[in-house]
Amino acid sequence: MKLDNRVAIVTGAGRNIGEEVSKLLSSEGAVIAVVDIDQARGEKVASDIVKSGGKAKAFVCDVSSEADIKALVKNVTAAFGKIDILVNNAAISDNKHMFEIEKADWDKVIAITLTAPFLMCKHIGKQMADQGHGGAIVNVSSTSGYYGRNRAIAYTAAKGGVVNMTRSIAIQLADYNIRVNSVVPNKIGSPVGKDDFDPTRPVVNLRNRSGVPIDLAKAVLFLVSDDADFIVGADLFVDGGCSTMMPGGS
Ligand SMILES: NC(=O)c1ccc[n+]([C@@H]2O[C@H](COP(=O)([O-])OP(=O)(O)OC[C@H]3O[C@@H](n4cnc5c(N)ncnc54)[C@H](O)[C@@H]3O)[C@@H](O)[C@H]2O)c1
Repeated sequence: MKLDNRVAIVTGAGRNIGEEVSKLLSSEGAVIAVVDIDQARGEKVASDIVKSGGKAKAFVCDVSSEADIKALVKNVTAAFGKIDILVNNAAISDNKHMFEIEKADWDKVIAITLTAPFLMCKHIGKQMADQGHGGAIVNVSSTSGYYGRNRAIAYTAAKGGVVNMTRSIAIQLADYNIRVNSVVPNKIGSPVGKDDFDPTRPVVNLRNRSGVPIDLAKAVLFLVSDDADFIVGADLFVDGGCSTMMPGGS
């Protein structure tokens, strides 16, 4: 299997994309630290993995809290001995126009969607560097990090930040044999912050279907596996080709 003997942390792993990433990495042999702020969601995913023969444990962590992140590093290494893979997937969106958003909402979105992946990379990158045998990190960005939107502002700023921050982190961790990349989804499964698939979300892409969580999970698996050994600092679009289309073009 591609990830035998590897320990992976997946944040926001209790639902949708993070859940599918956790299950796919587990099916390739990784031990999964299922990280979510919602205990019930995380425990359900960890228990599903264990029931299907994998190894996983749920960890409650608010990724916007540096104290929680430091505790997470300690608790995961105590439970599993090391950390080899990090998938920074947790995020929230504001879904607001700039005249509507309050500063407190702005700060919360930036804290969870941009500052948290930085702090996770910092503390887990240091743990991987100290372990001395490399690692792989994938940050989940969004097409919202590349294009402006009418109904989101902190989220678009945060996701744009994730993309370029990933490049700097890729450079800064390269000497430690830690590969860092990002994935760039568009409309995968349920909308961010929602439990259910929304059939009214317009789908405009070259595959003429909505994305499903396994589409993104396969891209993450590729990037964290040795198959992507020569891929560093890349942003891999998993968007059905929508970003290649000129709006209104023919
Ligand atoms: N769903 C999409 O269509 C889509 C499109 C583009 C990008 N993305 C990105 O993909 C990633 C996953 O999206 P999703 O739709 O699966 O999200 P989701 O809202 O379905 O799930 C996110 C999970 O993160 C957890 N979470 C929220 N705040 C947290 C915190 N402070 N600490 C720890 N956990 C926290 C939630 O409890 C939830 O289980 C996000 O980075 C999102 O921006 C999603």
